[in-house]
Amino acid sequence: MTKEKTVLSGVQPTGRPHLGNFFGAMKQFVELQNSYKTFIFVADYHSLTKQQDPEGLRINTKELVLDYLAIGLDPKKTIIFKQSDVPQVTELSWIFNCITTVPYLMRAHAYKDAEAKGGEVNVGTFSYPLLMAADILLYDADLVPVGQDQKQHVEYARDTALKFNRTFTELFKLPEPLILDTVKVIPGIDGRKMSKSYNNTIPLFSSNDEIKNLVMSIVTDSAGDKPENVYAIHSLFRNSNDLEKIYDENRGKYKNLKEALIADITDFIDPLRKKRQEIAQDEDVVNKVLKHGASIAQEIATKKMLEVKKAIGAN
Ligand code: AMP
Ligand code: TRP
Repeated sequence: MTKEKTVLSGVQPTGRPHLGNFFGAMKQFVELQNSYKTFIFVADYHSLTKQQDPEGLRINTKELVLDYLAIGLDPKKTIIFKQSDVPQVTELSWIFNCITTVPYLMRAHAYKDAEAKGGEVNVGTFSYPLLMAADILLYDADLVPVGQDQKQHVEYARDTALKFNRTFTELFKLPEPLILDTVKVIPGIDGRKMSKSYNNTIPLFSSNDEIKNLVMSIVTDSAGDKPENVYAIHSLFRNSNDLEKIYDENRGKYKNLKEALIADITDFIDPLRKKRQEIAQDEDVVNKVLKHGASIAQEIATKKMLEVKKAIGAN
């Protein structure tokens, strides 16, 4: 089968991926690689907007590639690469900077959130959606599997493609977000969106002790019929029939329900963690994968940038 359509997505190397990242986005990467031409990258330049720590970045980048391999991304099927290995992406984002207006970017949720927190927002955070647009458009992606929180960013990429096509030449495809209805936003142990920045995550490769402690500390509302936050996380691991039965039989017994969830998460994570350990035995695996991915991504990006430069008159 020839893979006609292209899937592309990225994750920022900002710490250990969690169940929200996995069920919201990363699981789809693995499923899609069999039927699509797939590009999955480490968004290291994006992470620089919030984390300026060279050793931390090096470690988190390496760890994220190991995570990708452990969940089943196959470098023979998926082009796995590091964003900063393809300098054309920042070149393209500059061009997008020049065709985008300030008020339009000021409407981005991520910028508004950063602004609302007080302090001074860096320019990278402000133009973040345009670097992301360049990520997506440079490789002619059709589909972008992401969690609900990234929907607006994919819309920015579409609008940017339209603007470029209108201003210069029809050069860019219009990408679509791929967001699973069932897992739009996965809650963390405090009930808010599971997020590295809220410190409320269950990491994807947690140890058994971590799983136990984290699940036991899930905040429950004792007024409800069932502990909603426990149930929401549990629904990632079991179908609703199974769950209804468990939650009916244990009505009001929150400790039992948490124990059932601990058992299910542990059964799920244990083999993944083992696989990750095996892969990590090869000290050079990350370098090899990234080198291979970079060479393919660079070739595609170089060709596309030549067309872009021609379209804008910089050839
Ligand atoms: P990030 O860690 O911010 O780079 O996010 C990586 C991917 O995980 C993105 O596609 C996010 O939309 C997705 N994601 C992050 N947190 C959640 C969550 N709590 N629920 C669903 N998807 C999420
Ligand atoms: N902004 C995304 C996130 O925080 C990461 C990302 C960067 C991305 N470039 C992308 C996702 C391109 C999909 C496509 O999760």
